[in-house]
Amino acid sequence: MIWTSIGTINDIPRRGARCVATPQGKVAVFRTADDKIYAIDDHCPHKGGPLSQGIVHDAAVTCPLHNWVISLETGKALGPDEGSVRTIPVRLDGDNLFIALGRLESQAA
Ligand code: FES
Repeated sequence: MIWTSIGTINDIPRRGARCVATPQGKVAVFRTADDKIYAIDDHCPHKGGPLSQGIVHDAAVTCPLHNWVISLETGKALGPDEGSVRTIPVRLDGDNLFIALGRLESQAA
């Protein structure tokens, strides 16, 4: 796994998020009220709304466009809606945040 530094936990307000541009697209990084950090694609499974601008509640975010609720833990839409986004592994080392953008496939030389 390749860990990429994305700043510190203090860069994200509680119940807030920030959008991180990566070579694999925009990633929404969330901080819950109890300081858990989650990262998912910043792209709602409904019509691509910016989830990083949604409302964070418990371990879920409500999309700002049409109010789908997406689990930050599984990336799946909750309730009657169906769809999911990619979840991205997050590591907190002290105050420093890292996300894993991809897995290194072992490549024989
Ligand atoms: S784009 Fe997110 S609910 Fe429609």
